[in-house]
Amino acid sequence: MVEQQFLPAHVGIIMDGNGRWAKKRALPRKMGHKAGAEVFRKIALYANDRGLKYLTFYVFSTENWKRPEDEVHAIIRLLRNYLDEVDQYRDKNIRIRFLGDLSVFEPDIQKKMGEIREESAGNTGMTLNLAINYGGRDEIVHAARRLAEQVKAGRLAPEDITEQLVAENLYAGDEPDVDLIIRPSGEYRLSNFLIWQSAYAEYVFMDEVLWPDFTPAHLEAALTEYHKRDRRFGGI
Ligand code: FPP
Repeated sequence: MVEQQFLPAHVGIIMDGNGRWAKKRALPRKMGHKAGAEVFRKIALYANDRGLKYLTFYVFSTENWKRPEDEVHAIIRLLRNYLDEVDQYRDKNIRIRFLGDLSVFEPDIQKKMGEIREESAGNTGMTLNLAINYGGRDEIVHAARRLAEQVKAGRLAPEDITEQLVAENLYAGDEPDVDLIIRPSGEYRLSNFLIWQSAYAEYVFMDEVLWPDFTPAHLEAALTEYHKRDRRFGGI
């Protein structure tokens, strides 16, 4: 196992393949998401025990609304269930955040997310980010608007807008860039996930596993692969 000091600070996971997992079993797609949500719980807890500092899951994208209503509802229901049970993890010392345009969700969901974020803000273990109604481009537009407002109010000069300032205005502007992005299921795409933060990320695409079959051993394999990579950040 990769030693703690060589672990990536921030890992992102695209939970892909739920639909195909269900199809292979002649089940409705939503059953794939249900199984996927269970795996999400397990991997989040394992990663916290393993000492990862930041873990971001792609739960629901700004593009996922195009899916059939029944499937969208099923995913939101799974999110609701998770929000309701988060109290159980209180002793795990995990800091939980939600990245995305949350304004589209029903008020009770927004309220719950706000409470969880605040109650866990002082936790010193892993930071667990759930990207929901999240899109990387949308996030950058959101940051641009925030900066434009400051310029309009006369508090910021356009020439003072730097990469760091843009980064600070993203949804989790105080977190480090993502170091490693893992995508199971054989798709080799980023799908609008953390596009700003992944400028120098390493990618591990795993075509041998669909998300509902993903285990801690798969995470370990990805961490080992990451450790073998030579990261140069544009240098030599
Ligand atoms: C991608 O698989 C998966 C999603 C779009 C949804 C992911 C959501 C969950 C695992 C439920 C999460 C709930 C919580 C509380 C974290 P796909 O449907 O695109 O799979 P396919 O490519 O095989 O069709």
